[in-house]
Amino acid sequence: MSEKTDETLANLLKEDRRFEPPADLAEHANLTADAYDRAAEDREGFWAEQAERLTWAQKWDQVLDWSNPPFAKWYVGGKLNAAYNCVDRHVEAGRGDKVALHFVGEPVGDTRSITYAELQDLVSQAANALTDLGVAAGDRVAIYMPMIPEAVVTMLACARIGAPHTVVFGGFSSDALASRLEDCQAKVVVTSDGGYRRGSASSLKPAVDEAREKAAGLGHTVEKVLVVRRTGQDVVWDDSVDVWWHDAVESASTSHTPEAFDAEHPLYVMYTSGTTGKPKGILHTTGGYLVGSAYTHWAVFDLKDDDVYWCTADIGWVTGHSYIVYGPLANGVTQVLYEGTPDSPERGRWWDIIEQYGVTLFYTAPTAIRSFMKQGREIPDARDLSSLRLLGSVGEPINPEAYVWYRHVIGGDRTPVVDTWWQTETGSIMISPLPGVTAGKPGSAMNPIPGVAAEVVDEEGNAVPNGSGGYLVLTEPWPSMLRTIWGDDQRFKETYWSRFEKLGYYFAGDGAKKDTDGDLWVLGRVDDVMNVSGHRLSTTEIESALVSHPKVAEAAVVGAKDEDTGQAVCAFVILRDSAVGDGASDEQSDIVAELRKHVRKEIGPIATPRQIMIVPELPKTRSGKIMRRLLRDVAENREVGDVTTLADSSVMELISTGLSSGK
Ligand code: WTA
Repeated sequence: MSEKTDETLANLLKEDRRFEPPADLAEHANLTADAYDRAAEDREGFWAEQAERLTWAQKWDQVLDWSNPPFAKWYVGGKLNAAYNCVDRHVEAGRGDKVALHFVGEPVGDTRSITYAELQDLVSQAANALTDLGVAAGDRVAIYMPMIPEAVVTMLACARIGAPHTVVFGGFSSDALASRLEDCQAKVVVTSDGGYRRGSASSLKPAVDEAREKAAGLGHTVEKVLVVRRTGQDVVWDDSVDVWWHDAVESASTSHTPEAFDAEHPLYVMYTSGTTGKPKGILHTTGGYLVGSAYTHWAVFDLKDDDVYWCTADIGWVTGHSYIVYGPLANGVTQVLYEGTPDSPERGRWWDIIEQYGVTLFYTAPTAIRSFMKQGREIPDARDLSSLRLLGSVGEPINPEAYVWYRHVIGGDRTPVVDTWWQTETGSIMISPLPGVTAGKPGSAMNPIPGVAAEVVDEEGNAVPNGSGGYLVLTEPWPSMLRTIWGDDQRFKETYWSRFEKLGYYFAGDGAKKDTDGDLWVLGRVDDVMNVSGHRLSTTEIESALVSHPKVAEAAVVGAKDEDTGQAVCAFVILRDSAVGDGASDEQSDIVAELRKHVRKEIGPIATPRQIMIVPELPKTRSGKIMRRLLRDVAENREVGDVTTLADSSVMELISTGLSSGK
């Protein structure tokens, strides 16, 4: 562990506040302390028990086949349909009138509540329409949509016909979309004309048109684009490809018989940033993933039948997959689906929604909590948030102050806070307090949940003693684990399983510490992945975007500490000789603006560097590796650390002097 993390740790471990579970919650908790022992004694038996939450068309013969690690098979021989489990079976059980989704559009008053029976009709229609467009089991469908009910419907319709979906976050650029379309060879794209964001209609369809053209340039043809009319804005239309949702779906039959698929049938591919420039297509399959997301959603949120649940994530991220779509709907929950931003049309929008719908379980990210803290407690205080009984946090470490504020101001000191650690790859929550069992410590994700085996290990893979830090690993397979990287088994093995190969541990890429009680504190990435507002970004991917600009010779990107976003993107750029000019400051700021725009275009707004520093050199080791640690020192305004391993130790001076003189 670096000096920096040690320092963070020292501060964290001074934290000695504890929050016991509320007595009534503990008394009626879904999961009690004995579950830890039960799961440890017979892990597979425990997971077999959890699989009973689902309705199987054919029961499995074997819980886990781990004969060919790291390629796992769970619930071998079992067959099921994910959409049937998320929708139809609730209707069949007489719960068709229960609201599945309270949709809240960004424009105030634009709301729509959809019951499970209605959802069944919608999903069936969409499944029929996709089939008519030529989509068959195994074909990939890309989804590039705002947070509207049709996005959820499309995901479920894909699952229903066995067509793996790949949802691409609507904030990603056409380039990012194109590379994903090509990588997974998507046959159809489902999108909308646009969505509402910060008070105005922002378009999506033009990016799909561009991406389709770019994918064609890469040799891949998208056959059809299904378009929801959301904002009514003008769109360019190609009759040979584009199809309106209201033509194809709304006229389709509401009856559709779901086919049961093998437990290991691919459910979806979710692209996420890795340590190289190319995003990884994380593959999740049907049975194990659905067991993992349904079980964790039930256990960690202590879900009860009359709860109103709200997860503020976007369906473009894994949190939206596991904790808006699959987990909650498999559990037959009533939930809020909100299209917009927290501050539109004004800052109290989220709290208004909680008050209006009586939200009881709320799941959001530390970056949002920090921005509310900054705005002041008057805003939430002016609303009635007394319906809340449990709060969740995900995406990045939650700092103790934010945790305590969240519990105190939003949760009125009644609500446990569950700090949930997991990843796109793990599919569902791995480490979290259990709300009816665990005395929470602000800033700690606490313990692996029952059924999950995690450790903090040293370089050699030995468990570290309490009070020490190391690498976070998962030591046993789990049902919702990724099965591979789409089309790249080798990369799957190298990325996650080669680090502790002999021990067979999954390497998560995060650093963590065990405190003196043995509780876990996740500290953040130990690789070249940044975490900006809970979004994973690869340093290399942004560097590649920068060097693809004709004026840039070389670029190095680091994630620097940021009060609001956790980390922020800071780029150091060496310009090509032809672009250097005389170093006048307005010329430099033009180039910086141009480069920021370029990154937005190549990847998307979330990747836009907070800072771009034009430098004459980059610090490199003798073997040519960029020493990002030193650049992080500069970006975080710290004294530059040890430079002795640099090939040219004067480089850092050159960089610092250049920056302070504005060159
Ligand atoms: C980080 C999001 C600390 C971590 C579900 C992980 C966290 C990466 C937490 C995965 C948490 C997520 N505490 N760090 N509670 N939750 N992370 O794939 O670095 O978008 O590896 O999945 O986010 O991000 P991903």
